[in-house]
Amino acid sequence: MKTLILNGSPRKNGETAMLINTLKSRLSGEIFQIDCYADGISPCTDCRLCRKKPVCRINDKMQEVYDYLKDCDNVVIASPIFFEELSGRLLDVASRFQVYASALIFRHEKPELSRKKGAVILTAGGSGGMTRAYYTACRLLENVGVREPVFCVCSTHTDSLPANDDKAALSDIITLAKELNAKSV
Ligand SMILES: Cc1cc2nc3c(=O)[nH]c(=O)nc-3n(C[C@H](O)[C@H](O)[C@H](O)COP(=O)(O)O)c2cc1C
Repeated sequence: MKTLILNGSPRKNGETAMLINTLKSRLSGEIFQIDCYADGISPCTDCRLCRKKPVCRINDKMQEVYDYLKDCDNVVIASPIFFEELSGRLLDVASRFQVYASALIFRHEKPELSRKKGAVILTAGGSGGMTRAYYTACRLLENVGVREPVFCVCSTHTDSLPANDDKAALSDIITLAKELNAKSV
């Protein structure tokens, strides 16, 4: 079992990190985590090379993500809600999935990615923005071969109830780990 986790929080020991760590402690197999605020991955510059060839010319850690995506089993997008959306750096990193969108739209090829399970983990200080962020995350996951349903765990009102004390969210994370650990049918 191989799981890719994209962490969109800038806070090393923040709410999102707490839920990610709980998930990781229950996931079997290998885990590859990208910390979008720390790993120096550049956003897509729309250079359009991937409209002609199945490559991205930006040589950074995203190349390891592309390799991992070829055969990993699960992809998890985890992010704090910023202005009712996924965080900006998460969107920067995920903009590099354009190489897969280009395969379909411009090169008329099927991306050579295995089918995967996907999940979205969201944290919010108040109650705002989960719907839009979940929708965006699903659109991104679609590009990397995630099939529906996309599991979702939310911890809201973290300003008054830290994710660490959010029993419902923690229980949902345990259920999510079971779903991701289960063999696909
Ligand atoms: C720039 C910024 C924008 C935010 N926008 C929202 C928002 O739209 N809705 C909301 O409920 N919380 C919002 N928050 C609060 C964060 O979502 C919340 O504190 C989150 O749990 C932080 O997670 P982290 O500790 O993993 O970074 C915002 C926080 C920041 C810094």
